[in-house]
Amino acid sequence: MSTTGNELREEVRRRYAESARAVNEGGKAGCGGGSCCADGEADARFGGALYDAEQRGELPEAAALASLGCGNPTVVADLREGETVLDLGSGGGIDVILSAKRVGEAGLAYGLDMTDEMLALAQRNAQEAGIRNAIFLKGMIEEVPLPADSIDVVISNCVINLSTDKPAVLTEIARVLRPGGRIGISDVVAEDRLSVKDRAERGSHVGCIAGALSRGEYEAGLEGAGFERISVEFTHEVADGMHGAIIKAVKTRQSEQKGLPVIQPAASAGCC
Ligand SMILES: C[S@@+](CC[C@H](N)C(=O)[O-])C[C@H]1O[C@@H](n2cnc3c(N)ncnc32)[C@H](O)[C@@H]1O
Repeated sequence: MSTTGNELREEVRRRYAESARAVNEGGKAGCGGGSCCADGEADARFGGALYDAEQRGELPEAAALASLGCGNPTVVADLREGETVLDLGSGGGIDVILSAKRVGEAGLAYGLDMTDEMLALAQRNAQEAGIRNAIFLKGMIEEVPLPADSIDVVISNCVINLSTDKPAVLTEIARVLRPGGRIGISDVVAEDRLSVKDRAERGSHVGCIAGALSRGEYEAGLEGAGFERISVEFTHEVADGMHGAIIKAVKTRQSEQKGLPVIQPAASAGCC
């Protein structure tokens, strides 16, 4: 990876470690402000506000406070008893806890994150929620430490936009999914009319804006990675021409490794 890519990834790790520490110290997650490093304390576009009261009631308070997502992938993924789920960039563990409850004791929920402080927070939250069928792994979403064909459903909440190598992430998702496996992902997605520069002008990379793919790039990337029945549905606008979105698809064949453009966002790594 380029130096810029490495630097950007380290900036992401540092900012989300800070965010986990804020929750550990009794505060709310966020990069000095609201969630996913968006501006404002009670921002309805990001974080725990995107979960209904019933789901929030199933969670320890710290897990809800740690929510930094831009959607609610556990709802869109339609999880079933006995399934194995993988959450990419599991943060404070909110979606792993909810998934573990959905798939029940016969199922398993993995959380994968690169930030030690987030993994520690997630472990604590899962323990507090009484979850026994969750495993948190340290690693990169571009290099998933799980065998091929081992997962039924991949979920992720506002993380893929942060990756500096999105083709690698989509290829890895396809590799770990069993044939017929599916994705239910929440992410920030740009309208096709916005250039990479336009996106960088609307927000930072760590704030989940500058690194967002466009709808067309997401669709092409998933198709190239071996997915069918692809849908990218905008749910709520988070900046001019940028949306919280639900991405669904089914793995039907092996990846052709043909990629989508690697987005190297302009140097906009500043938080919030
Ligand atoms: C915006 S937060 C979302 C956390 C969680 N999904 C949620 O909804 O609260 C992004 C998380 O992804 C992790 N992350 C970002 N890039 C990553 C990468 N390339 N590999 C693994 N984890 C990553 C960060 O450490 C952080 O915990």
